[in-house]
Amino acid sequence: MLRLFVALPIPYAAAEALRAAQGGLIGARWAPLDNLHVTLRFAGEISEDRADDFDAALCAVRGSSFDVQLAGVGAFDDAGVVRAVWAGAETSEPLARLQRACDSAARRAGLKPERRTWNPHVTLAYLKGADAAQVGVWVRDHNLIRPPAFRARSFGLYSSLRSGGGSTYRLERLYPLA
Ligand code: 2AM
Repeated sequence: MLRLFVALPIPYAAAEALRAAQGGLIGARWAPLDNLHVTLRFAGEISEDRADDFDAALCAVRGSSFDVQLAGVGAFDDAGVVRAVWAGAETSEPLARLQRACDSAARRAGLKPERRTWNPHVTLAYLKGADAAQVGVWVRDHNLIRPPAFRARSFGLYSSLRSGGGSTYRLERLYPLA
């Protein structure tokens, strides 16, 4: 079984700008810059055969390169407990279209339907035992962040290996955008 997800990688200049927000929260495990990405479709644990089908369906996705603007920050909570902080990605028609195409590819490959509403973001840290008031201050302090826009010329299929110290992501396939 493989744990896979489809994402847009964040280039260094934008990632470097996001680094400015990576601090000031007790209980945060900040993501290394080369792990930063915008998830387009989470696949979860799937068999190698299904992964091959998903890869084939993703190879058939057609799209043109487009600009991505990251802006602002926020937090995800589970029943009031903050579990992650993120930077937002402005929704644009080409980004939403690519996300829909990846979702259709997942359906064609027989993956389970996505239950979460897609909210384009870059997770900056996962949190344990964070103080909600401190997270509120962090959001206020970093909400004007606006890294340089970048051109998305490809998207990738990543595997995720979980270990005690967090997850390691590996790019398995890269799909070019025209
Ligand atoms: P997150 O950043 O919001 O946690 C690798 O784990 C990527 O897949 C992350 O971007 C993560 O989103 C996303 N992911 C993990 N579990 C998920 C789930 N159950 N549904 C949707 N996306 C998920």
